[in-house]
Amino acid sequence: MEKLDLLYVGKAKKVFKTEDENLCIFEYKDDATAFNGEKKGSFDGKGIINNQIANIIFKLLEQDGIKTHFIKELSKRETLVKKVDIIPLEVIVRNISAGSFCKRYGIKEGIIFDTPTLEFSYKEDSLGDPLINDYHAVALKIATREQIEEITELAFKINESLIKIFDNIGIRLVDFKIEVGFDKDKNIILSDEISPDTCRLWDKETNKKLDKDQFRLELGEFASVYNEVYGRFLEKYPNI
Ligand code: TMP
Ligand code: ASP
Repeated sequence: MEKLDLLYVGKAKKVFKTEDENLCIFEYKDDATAFNGEKKGSFDGKGIINNQIANIIFKLLEQDGIKTHFIKELSKRETLVKKVDIIPLEVIVRNISAGSFCKRYGIKEGIIFDTPTLEFSYKEDSLGDPLINDYHAVALKIATREQIEEITELAFKINESLIKIFDNIGIRLVDFKIEVGFDKDKNIILSDEISPDTCRLWDKETNKKLDKDQFRLELGEFASVYNEVYGRFLEKYPNI
């Protein structure tokens, strides 16, 4: 399958049309941004690592019965995916306090929640992806009440699977962001990517941050922790 017209350029990847109107090709870039694009960086090979980590995770989630856009890895940087009509929500699930949750509510990092929590941001760069609640999402006609409930259930199910997947490689899943949308049959499926860009991942033994917080907070080990996570996946799942 060949890349045709460029459909969309995101902060960390490009999306191309293909000859099949129901399929797209993702090409992961080496770029990183944070704080709504204000902070910019990159490292050589980041796109290759994120593409391959995301694909391993999507395959493992599919094995757990979760419907994703994943079809086939085409190259180290490129993946064939189902075209998805993205619902403009960033769906964030948290197991442990960190990031904007700590800042917003004035609590310390590392508090383990009794049950996972979930929030939505309205995916609109010009507004800085503001936090919205489910009623607002319905009022804005971003999704129906039933769809919000389906997305919530799906996000918690993905959390259960991801906790196990990361636990198998010695990592605690602190929080993550997903994007979902409609496939050609109007089913809601998981899209975008799941990678160290979109999750907070702490080493189970040391609590070392193995994710994009290395870049956001300038902790000095951005490239090496992405390589570390990728290496652990390859070691645990060599034949996936
Ligand atoms: P936050 O604590 O900054 O709100 O982030 C929560 C989780 O969502 C964290 O794992 C990083 C991820 N995330 C994204 O993937 N994209 C984004 O634009 C933001 C704000 C967060
Ligand atoms: N990806 C978002 C941005 O570029 C935010 C983040 O991940 O921190 O701005």
